[in-house]
Amino acid sequence: MDKNAARVAAWNSDELPFSEPGLAEVVKAATTTTAARKANLSFSTAVDETIRKADLIFVAVETPSGKRDALGYGAAPNLTSFHAVLRHVAKTAEKDFILVNKSTVPVGSAHAAKEIMTPHLRPGIKCHVLSNPEFLAEGTAVSDLTHPDRILIGSDDSEGGKAAAAALASLYSKWVPIDQIITMNSRSSELSKLAANALLAQRISSINALSALCDKMGADITEVSRACGLDHRIGKGMMRSTLGFGGSCFEKDVLHLTSTAAKLGLADVAAYFESVVNINTYQTSRFTENIISQVPSSPTGRRTVVGVLGFAFKPETDDTRCSPAIPVIRDLVLAGYQVNIFDPLVHEAKIQEDLRASLGDNQHKIDEQVFICTDVYEACEGANGIAILNSWSDMRYIPSTDGGNYTTRASNAKVNSISKNAFQLTLSLFAKIIPRMFTPELSLTATSIATSTIEVDDGHIDWERIADGMKNPKYIFDGHNVLDHRLTELGFYIDGVGRPLQTPGFVQETETLSSALNLNGRGFVEKSKVQQLPPSWVQFIPVAE
Ligand code: UGA
Repeated sequence: MDKNAARVAAWNSDELPFSEPGLAEVVKAATTTTAARKANLSFSTAVDETIRKADLIFVAVETPSGKRDALGYGAAPNLTSFHAVLRHVAKTAEKDFILVNKSTVPVGSAHAAKEIMTPHLRPGIKCHVLSNPEFLAEGTAVSDLTHPDRILIGSDDSEGGKAAAAALASLYSKWVPIDQIITMNSRSSELSKLAANALLAQRISSINALSALCDKMGADITEVSRACGLDHRIGKGMMRSTLGFGGSCFEKDVLHLTSTAAKLGLADVAAYFESVVNINTYQTSRFTENIISQVPSSPTGRRTVVGVLGFAFKPETDDTRCSPAIPVIRDLVLAGYQVNIFDPLVHEAKIQEDLRASLGDNQHKIDEQVFICTDVYEACEGANGIAILNSWSDMRYIPSTDGGNYTTRASNAKVNSISKNAFQLTLSLFAKIIPRMFTPELSLTATSIATSTIEVDDGHIDWERIADGMKNPKYIFDGHNVLDHRLTELGFYIDGVGRPLQTPGFVQETETLSSALNLNGRGFVEKSKVQQLPPSWVQFIPVAE
């Protein structure tokens, strides 16, 4: 069985090729015929047969960044897969069809797609091309599908184009309120997708630029972000300062927009958007430089060890595309550190592959300096510092009932994951499985679906055990600002992004005032805990024996 056939077989089994909250239930319901409803989802490798039967054909292929543009700004996307699918569909179709493009493509692609397909169409066959960009994020794919902020449908101005847009709108209207389905010209729709990602990425770069100021001035970016986000005009979303955004979309789409602006002669616009990516690169380097300055590499003798927790670009995925973990680890390795890596979802082979590509001529250093570990304890044992590069599990800390330890709840027992590429493909399938929709055959056509399945133990991180196994001083570099600062009680230094350094045994952040007040759950602080509070608070707080 070839790779694609194996993946389609997995879709047809009880073990989906990846896990996404709520997905298994949707697939199960839609593929099962009951007394109440007929199954209206199937998975097949019979691409041509499926194309021939379809009235609407959704295209959701990867359009990765191409080479950097000669003009020096950004990079246009590689459209090889997109064009291949268009030609194949056009040659195969035996009746009129609507091609719905969900891939992120250059502005003008709907128009170009029609021109590419027309010479390949059988005589008399008509097609319309719609732009219907996808806005889901990994981890929230099903809720983003069922409760989208908006659906964009772009078409040309012809009667046929408008009728095609109305047909797609009527499909979405089965579960999306009509006022959230917006029709527009296809160029606006295509640009809106790039614009949305550029605006989201720009917010993260803005908050990350401010985090650099915080680090210099003793301010706390989580407080600044909260203070600003409470202004309804600014809002709270995408305002978390981290070691930098990752994933296959933000950088690619911002570089795409940048390259478009440069080609149109808008150098200032290109420079503006390029700076979003530049700040992101700066933020990741700044994070690594901080590790190197706080936990210096030993010039002689044993290597300094950094335990890395998290390799994927965001939680609950094995997607490593453009993960900030890759440059951080590369730079630590080049600076002579030993790096012990643990990620609950990413396969060892994938980590090796990404690091080899990133280290290039220095990839031989992987054998000597990189250890891929099977759990957090192995990664942190004997470490001089820990770097949290992805909040890959639920990072709440709960004081244990049997002592002063704080714990992290780990992720669920079994996690499967899939690349973004496959998520986008899957979304086009979801669009056909919502109950009450008409029931065309589904086609799993272009692109590969990369999947993996890894067992993750239930339980929690025993931070006391980690503290016992680490070398002093016990530094944790929190690249996602997820750690509870009460962990300093175990002797950790916690160095977040854009936050004051938290030193062992002392609660410094003002936001812990309320949690300090609740230390005993009765609204006053026990005398023994008073020394944990900033001295300036003590006069305001009721203290009891
Ligand atoms: C992103 C967009 O959020 C989706 O709307 C879009 O459809 C998708 O790209 C796409 O074009 O396919 P995704 O990349 O899956 O979705 O994930 P996000 O949740 O947006 O996170 C992207 C990166 O930004 C992650 O590395 C995350 O850690 C980082 N991030 C996110 C921050 O650094 N700070 C934040 O406040 C939020």
